[in-house]
Amino acid sequence: MTGKNILVSASILGCDLANIESELKRLEKANVDYVHFDVMDGVFVDNISFGIPVLKSAKTKTYLPFDVHLMITDPENYIAEFARCGADIITFHLEAAKDVKKCIELCKKYGCKAGISIKPNTPASEVFEYLDMIDMVLVMTVEPGFGGQGFLAFTLEKIKEIRQKADELGLDIDIQVDGGITDKTCSGVKKNGANILVAGTYLFKADDMVKAVESLK
Ligand code: DX5
Ligand code: ZN
Repeated sequence: MTGKNILVSASILGCDLANIESELKRLEKANVDYVHFDVMDGVFVDNISFGIPVLKSAKTKTYLPFDVHLMITDPENYIAEFARCGADIITFHLEAAKDVKKCIELCKKYGCKAGISIKPNTPASEVFEYLDMIDMVLVMTVEPGFGGQGFLAFTLEKIKEIRQKADELGLDIDIQVDGGITDKTCSGVKKNGANILVAGTYLFKADDMVKAVESLK
């Protein structure tokens, strides 16, 4: 458990994308903390989602901050444009970046918080050397690429390792989890030190989104 507030970031990959404006209004009413925006390029992951033009347009429809998860190769080429179009947090994949420090610097230079994401099979220790330069680590709790997958429990240990290392270094970073997060899986991730919970399917399929958000906190 971390002393930090638990925040909920709603993955709009799980929403009715043809009605994105009304879906964003639902998220505002449900008091989510961020809109999680999954960018997939069909190369880093086996799926294609949406990108800069959609972000730019969605940004004009809500006051909620945008948490952009880049599942793309060569993230260094796109960070500036995502920042300019309304990203507040930009997270890129450690496995996809050619120059991790440059990516971190670009996020900051363009006024965004910087996050590094790791896939389920990437060891937690690979992010340790960057912890004092970033705002957030995103631990993927499913293989990136698709919403609606089952939570991978073996990732809990990695969350714990990263929180322990951050505490050891005296760093107050955020740890985000993404994939298969529900009212059932959220207690384990929180117990191990995660404080930002991404949820897509669980929120958008809920009968009562307000209650669903509360159940995660
Ligand atoms: C998966 C995405 C997730 C996904 C989460 O690659 O990064 O953000 O949309 O969806 P659920 O909550 O349905 O697992
Ligand atoms: Zn995501």
